[in-house]
Order: sequence, then C-alpha cells, then structure tokens
Amino acid sequence: MKNNGNVLIAGATSGIGRALCLLYLKEGRKVAVTGRRKALLEELKSLSPERVFTYVSDITSLKSASVIEQAAQDMGGIGTIIICSGVGHINAKLSAGPEIETVKTNVLGFTDFAAAAYNYFANALSHSGESGTLAGISSIASFRGSDLSPSYYASKAYVSNYLEGLRKKAVKNKLKLNVCTVIPGFVDTALAQGVGGNDGLFWIAPVDKAAAQIASALRRGKNIAYITRRWRLIAWLLKIIPDFIYNKI
Ligand SMILES: NC(=O)c1ccc[n+]([C@@H]2O[C@H](COP(=O)([O-])OP(=O)(O)OC[C@H]3O[C@@H](n4cnc5c(N)ncnc54)[C@H](OP(=O)(O)O)[C@@H]3O)[C@@H](O)[C@H]2O)c1
Repeated sequence: MKNNGNVLIAGATSGIGRALCLLYLKEGRKVAVTGRRKALLEELKSLSPERVFTYVSDITSLKSASVIEQAAQDMGGIGTIIICSGVGHINAKLSAGPEIETVKTNVLGFTDFAAAAYNYFANALSHSGESGTLAGISSIASFRGSDLSPSYYASKAYVSNYLEGLRKKAVKNKLKLNVCTVIPGFVDTALAQGVGGNDGLFWIAPVDKAAAQIASALRRGKNIAYITRRWRLIAWLLKIIPDFIYNKI
C-alpha cells in the first residue's frame, strides 16, 4: 500500500534523530524536525531549505498535536512519524531534578506525541487510503530496572508498553499503521554517555549505522527493531536472568 514519503522526526537536533533526518534527506524526502535547540534545527534547514521543515518545540509543553498538524499542512501530509526525543541521566543519588525531568520528557512528553501521532494517522489514513508508520525509540534499558538510572530505565519500559498498546489498537481498528518499537543497545551519542557513564559501554553502534538499521526496519514494516541486531541476544538474557543474579550485576 502506498505510503506518503514525508517524515516527521521529534527530537532531531542531535544523535539518532538527526542521523535519520540526514538519511531521509538523502533519499529525497521531505523531513519535518523538532527539538528545543533552534540553531541546530536551522542548521538542518540550511542543508535543504525546500525539504526541511523546522518546529522549535519542547515535547514537555504537550503541544504535539498542533506541531503534527502544522507539519502535515506544510509538507502535504506525513507518512512516517518517529519519536526520538528523550533524556537520560546517571542519578545514583536520586536527585529530584533529573528523575522528574526524565519522566516529564520520556513519559509525559512521549505520551502526548505518540497519542497525537496515532490520532493524526487514524484520521489521515482513513481519508487517503494510504499506509503509515509510527515509531518510538525505547531502549534495551526497558527490560529491567536500574540502580544508577532508575527513572530512565522505567521510562523506557513505559515507552515499549505504550507502543505495544498502539500497535494492538491499530490492528483492532484495521488501521493501515505499522507501529514499531525501536530498541537500541548503545549508540554513539551524547545521551549514551550520560546514561551508560564512561565505563561499561560495549557494542556501541555508530549513529549512522543505527539510523540505517532503523530506516530499514521501518521500510520492512517491523514491529520490533533491535539496533544493532545483536542486542536481541542481550534482551533475551535480561529477560531470563533471575533477580538474585541481576541484583548483583
Ligand atoms: N544513544 C543510545 O545509546 C540510546 C540507546 C537507547 C535508546 N536511546 C534513545 O534514543 C533517543 C535519541 O537519543 P540520542 O541517543 O540520539 O541522544 P541525543 O543526541 O541526546 O538526542 C536527544 C534528542 O531528544 C531531543 N529532546 C530532549 N529533550 C527534549 C524536549 N524536552 N523536547 C523536545 N526534544 C527533546 C533533543 O533535542 P533538544 O535538546 O534540541 O530539545 C535531541 O534532539 C532517546 O529517546 C534515547 O532514550 C538512545
């Protein structure tokens, strides 16, 4: 089924979202990008003023529906929405600031964007007869709790579960929408350093490789995409390790 080729990426000023934007631009698509850092959005715009559409937007302001509507109007519809916005901190002392910021961004802001994206597709696809793709970036962190970064790991469990709910909803409503849960291990971005610390990171994927694998998974209509693919093994291990071992790692 035909998919409108236009893409909207929430959180494209750096890291995975930015790499996805560059990849889709190379494919000749129109790309709408959001984030708080205006200068970085303008930098993307300067690469292809005709095909990049920028929206300075803080996902925690809960105005996602209007950003999506505006982007759809500006580009002539949207076929793919990818939610990359996210923060993560090492916070062993459980300081309130980082814990709450993580929940506001990765849970509250994510929910606002994901729900608005689903509703956009529910309306647009029923009129156009086209198919759509909605993806959110969860994490390998989603499978178990963390002593060093509890809110980040918990927020990603929420993201995975929420996306599964939307996937089920799309199937039940016979909506031609593929909902993909993207599960990266470590990708070489600023955020990975913040969550993983300087030690303990392994199998770190270059951000371009991660973006290419995500785009490929979305093209193939995958429901779950491990990035890179070998992280499926770690996910399996995390699921089966008993608590008495996991708690000591
Ligand atoms: N890197 C990894 O190893 C890894 C692993 C698993 C999952 N992930 C997930 O991948 C996603 C992208 O992260 P990344 O690694 O690419 O890190 P990044 O380079 O720090 O990118 C994070 C993006 O989120 C945006 N963002 C943060 N807070 C926002 C807010 N309040 N409103 C709107 N946008 C906001 C940032 O834009 P502004 O700052 O301009 O707002 C930025 O574009 C995140 O959800 C992260 O949890 C990353």
